[in-house]
Amino acid sequence: MTTSVLLTKKSAWSFFYRFGLFDPVIPINYDLSIKGAFEALAPKPTNRVLDVGCGNGRLFYHARSWLAEGGRLVGVELSKGGAESARYRTEQLGFADQITVKQGDMRQLKELELGVFDGAVSHFSIYMLQTQPERQAAVKQVGNLLKPGAKFVFAVPSETWSVREIFADACQVESKRSDINWLHSAFRQWVVYPMTAIGFRDLEKGLDEDLFHRYTPEEITEHLTKGGFEDIQIERIYGGNGYRAVARKI
Ligand SMILES: C[S@@+](CC[C@H](N)C(=O)[O-])C[C@H]1O[C@@H](n2cnc3c(N)ncnc32)[C@H](O)[C@@H]1O
Repeated sequence: MTTSVLLTKKSAWSFFYRFGLFDPVIPINYDLSIKGAFEALAPKPTNRVLDVGCGNGRLFYHARSWLAEGGRLVGVELSKGGAESARYRTEQLGFADQITVKQGDMRQLKELELGVFDGAVSHFSIYMLQTQPERQAAVKQVGNLLKPGAKFVFAVPSETWSVREIFADACQVESKRSDINWLHSAFRQWVVYPMTAIGFRDLEKGLDEDLFHRYTPEEITEHLTKGGFEDIQIERIYGGNGYRAVARKI
């Protein structure tokens, strides 16, 4: 394991979250993937939803219309910086009474006494667990907290995840954006993304060393089936660099 990868694992997410750097620097295709994960879950206003490895709560931002209708969310995040930023976001969005953020380990979901849920999302979080049994167990634990028929949206890196492909795709999406002007888009492509890519290269090393995990569709299906899910639909997302599975708890 290289020192830089070790650093990524232990502190980089927390650093980016703590200093408010995550939202402005994430590639647009990654942000659209978070949005897509929530849209794929499509919870009802009466539902209570779990966000496993919620980071700084970027998903909460994409869930704000649903929250305005009364939705309730629980986020679980290992890093202190992430959990604190996610809590701060709940206040900024004005939904602090509907969102609970627990700093804790997704390998101990049961011990965190979270109650039961009508739906769950794990957006690029379970892949960070180092061993196959841990990743499998995490999926099963999510399943144990879901009501029968509840949806689980599970997004992970694909076997072809690469920094080059992610940023090539991100630049293509950027150049077609209509929500920001061309100067802002150019700034993101030529200034922000090359810097973000440095951090992503470290992540790539972690994936190459299997400290973090790239999935095949077969593996996703196996984990979800063994975790007590059925009706599994898998699609490529994130410019082909990820998979999003949607499954139902049996
Ligand atoms: C790639 S980030 C994704 C964050 C968020 N889901 C998103 O898409 O913006 C992975 C997150 O999983 C968290 N994480 C890693 N291992 C964890 C664990 N054992 N328990 C809870 N969270 C964990 C990390 O701290 C990090 O915030």
